[in-house]
Amino acid sequence: MLKQKPAFTRKRRPLQWKVWLLYAAGFLPAISTFYLGATGSLGADPVKSFEQSLGLWAIRFLILTLCITPLRDIAGINLLRYRRALGLLAFYYALLHFTVYLVLDQALNFQVLLADIARRPFITIGMAGLALLVPLALTSNNWSIRRLGKGWIRLHRLVYLVIAGGAVHFLLAVKSWPAEPVIYALFIALLLLWRIFPRRLRKTTLKLQH
Ligand code: HEM
Repeated sequence: MLKQKPAFTRKRRPLQWKVWLLYAAGFLPAISTFYLGATGSLGADPVKSFEQSLGLWAIRFLILTLCITPLRDIAGINLLRYRRALGLLAFYYALLHFTVYLVLDQALNFQVLLADIARRPFITIGMAGLALLVPLALTSNNWSIRRLGKGWIRLHRLVYLVIAGGAVHFLLAVKSWPAEPVIYALFIALLLLWRIFPRRLRKTTLKLQH
């Protein structure tokens, strides 16, 4: 007689598949933009376009990461199992964005990098955002969650600072007021406000009841 597989293996496999598929799909924008750049189809300044596209995808993945909880609470759609992959994709894109800036834009000139960090506020903010993402990426594994306990939740609240910084970085990087960074900043503000307000409202309601 055939032994039945334990329920968890039957459930886990398709799930892991979907997460890997998300990683694969997540890297497509980087691969396709790189391909366009390599084949001369990325406009007059391919390095700048590549750098900008990677920055845009970094902030998009940060936004998607922060959409997971409101989506569950408001619409009942539970995509929590994809949050780690989305957060890590945001980190990889921010790292690639920085690498293109450092290697292709500044030709690995660390003096220029340091001068930029000191003199250009949007670079200072971008660098701080990337630095804060490093401990989050390094602790995005089950072992760290178990080891850090409640500290893990506190540490990962840094993502709110990173995304707020990302919005400011985007606004300052474009040097004028086109619609795109403003829309991103407003949406990010909504996501952050949503996280603050319900808790306070709940507390107020509880106080009123007593
Ligand atoms: C959390 C980290 C970061 C995020 C989310 C992010 C995101 C972005 C976004 C959305 C843009 C605008 C793209 C556009 O114009 O369409 C941008 C531009 C830019 N970012 Fe970042 N960035 C980050 C970190 C960094 C770091 C660490 C550096 C370099 C030290 C950097 C350097 C730049 C530069 C130079 C531009 C302007 C490119 C131009 O001249 O148009 N960014 N970034």
